[in-house]
Amino acid sequence: MPITAVKDNCWVLETRNTAYALGIDDKLRTPLNWYWGPKLPRRKDYRPPAPRWWHLNGTPDGLPEEYPAWGGLRFLECCLKAEFHEGTRDVILAFAGADIAGEELQIRLKDEVFPLIVTLHYRVRPDQDIIERWATFKNESDDPILIDRAFSAQWAVPDRLPCRLTHLDGQWADECHPTRDWLTQGARVIESRRITSGSHHFPFFALDRGDATEHAGQVWFGALAWSGNWKLIAEVTDGARTRASIGLNDFDFRWKLTPGETFTTPVAYGGYTSAGFGAAIRCLHDLVRDHVLPTKHLTRKVLYNSWEITTFHVNEAQQIELAKTAADMGVELFVVDDGWFHNRENTKGGLGDWWPDETKFPHGLQPLIKAVNDLGMDFGLWVEPEMVSFTSDLYRQHPDWILHYPNRPLKDNSADPLPRREKDQLILNLARTDVQDYLIALLDKLLTENNIRFIKWDMNRHPNEAGWPQAAELGRDPKEVWTRYVLGLYRIWETLRAKHPQVVFQSCQSGGGRADLGMLHVADQVWASDNSEPLSRLKIQDGFSHAIPACVIEAWVTEQNAKLLPLDFRFHVSMSGVLGVGGATSKWSSEQRDQAKKLIIQYKQLRHVIHEGDLYRLRSPSESPFSAHLYVAKDKSEAVLFAFYTQLSWPFPFPQLPLMGLDPDSLYEVEGEPAPRSGAAWQHDGLQLTFKNEISSTMKHIRKV
Ligand code: DGJ
Repeated sequence: MPITAVKDNCWVLETRNTAYALGIDDKLRTPLNWYWGPKLPRRKDYRPPAPRWWHLNGTPDGLPEEYPAWGGLRFLECCLKAEFHEGTRDVILAFAGADIAGEELQIRLKDEVFPLIVTLHYRVRPDQDIIERWATFKNESDDPILIDRAFSAQWAVPDRLPCRLTHLDGQWADECHPTRDWLTQGARVIESRRITSGSHHFPFFALDRGDATEHAGQVWFGALAWSGNWKLIAEVTDGARTRASIGLNDFDFRWKLTPGETFTTPVAYGGYTSAGFGAAIRCLHDLVRDHVLPTKHLTRKVLYNSWEITTFHVNEAQQIELAKTAADMGVELFVVDDGWFHNRENTKGGLGDWWPDETKFPHGLQPLIKAVNDLGMDFGLWVEPEMVSFTSDLYRQHPDWILHYPNRPLKDNSADPLPRREKDQLILNLARTDVQDYLIALLDKLLTENNIRFIKWDMNRHPNEAGWPQAAELGRDPKEVWTRYVLGLYRIWETLRAKHPQVVFQSCQSGGGRADLGMLHVADQVWASDNSEPLSRLKIQDGFSHAIPACVIEAWVTEQNAKLLPLDFRFHVSMSGVLGVGGATSKWSSEQRDQAKKLIIQYKQLRHVIHEGDLYRLRSPSESPFSAHLYVAKDKSEAVLFAFYTQLSWPFPFPQLPLMGLDPDSLYEVEGEPAPRSGAAWQHDGLQLTFKNEISSTMKHIRKV
């Protein structure tokens, strides 16, 4: 039983290794966190936090509340902020009942005066040591209630020792760098305000006491399943308690909860481990593979995409030639990127008019699709459905469909000395159901009429005019647009997936700007970065690996840094994810193509381990020129090791590599090593690697004998 009652209105949620205990406080009448850590032997070991709030003039701020609402004597970060009619902005929630249904605990809270019901949901994922939390708000009154903050959860870290926060920061083409800061009294905010989860921060956090390493130590971690504006507040209270609140960003947020309406927050995931950051990421990887992704255990195909070589200048004959070379190398999926549709010569035109360009594809896409299929490959296509160009027919027909403010005219950037937006494209307002329906019908037709097995869904702009003029006539608050846009996006993807289950969907947001766990409920894989330069990419992929597994991280072998880096190095970086090729393959020598062929064969033989196995980050590429990571099959029968030396100097012997995660008592042979050894020996004595060249890499298959 993952959820049991310790006594009346107090519960313990148990996963394989951890426990999360909470109970309703008698005085406060709201739930307090009792405990979050390794499982304790006896039920009685779980007990409420010491009632120190009493000494602080009655403020509950010093207590680990599960879901503080802004009201009463609360002055710190809250999860819910609301305004009732007549302007009351004081929410006082009190316990109104609880239910356990299988792996889910629901705690109902009700405002003392106003009929607002807040239900806290806890779902236990026992095998992944993770708790999922979200909240629903129901308005049972006859008047609207304005919600100004709607977080999913507040996570309290036990005891009062100092805490370190790990977060993933970056920017376009340089995503996901792990950053570690000590938290001091006050609030540290990490967020996105860009309608996407963003390449600047990934909705993930880890907290530790400053002593956790990759392989040991206590770590409390979490992620948010949301692909729009989000906010994490890591706060140290005046009583030295640390808590992490996470949810929808309240910046420019509002939701008008109409009578009878229910609002649901996104899911926040939280986990605990005593085995270091590496164990935390393995929990998240399992969670993503087992509970988040729409298709479990999908085999991701090796793809070819010519974007970096041909950019917008694609045509039928050239793509068929590239497809022939790709098929010969063993590629399984051929993807046509941007540039294929009407009037798309550069970033200024075409978006919205989704039919094949008459000059580049005079007979439509069918001859190319047929040629690709005849070569034994699936066909895939790039689209950017959320956008329209100024010059498109769609914009001319529906100028009201885009995000805009009625009294601020949208000028073409080229006609404006002060650019008003990132690009010459406008964003369709996905908060509108007519826009959602239009895109569903459009893409449904495209997928029905063509044998398309892969969609690369791109999104290349952030809104700076997030107006929704239609909101008032619908009786909604215009600030709901941030949330409704993302819900609309999910609806489109879910509908298309249901209608076209054979299609694999990739999420791209100028690279990895929408690679979060919300998107991974509908997307099979993500394009992690527009930076495919392998030395940078190694670090970017290492960053993403904090939250998402290799089976969703698409990585292409391109021409970036190709003069310096050997082909196998470039492949090894991409083989640590979903392998793709994006280089000028027609210019590759026959030796290079043969080498690529062999590497693709090797990858196909081992991708089940890379994609489904446990990742052990043996040495991080951010910390030294020697880096290595190991994927160990779940049954520990085999493993795949990648190691890289990334410096332009004489390669000193690679530090002895401890091969983690193998069965200590079984014998393993490591490719290229003279004799098998026990898993314990490979771990404790390690593997000595040597490299011949200056910048080099290796991939080794490890097998149980
Ligand atoms: C941005 C993507 O990240 C690239 O891979 C490519 O598809 C371009 N957009 C096309 O415009």
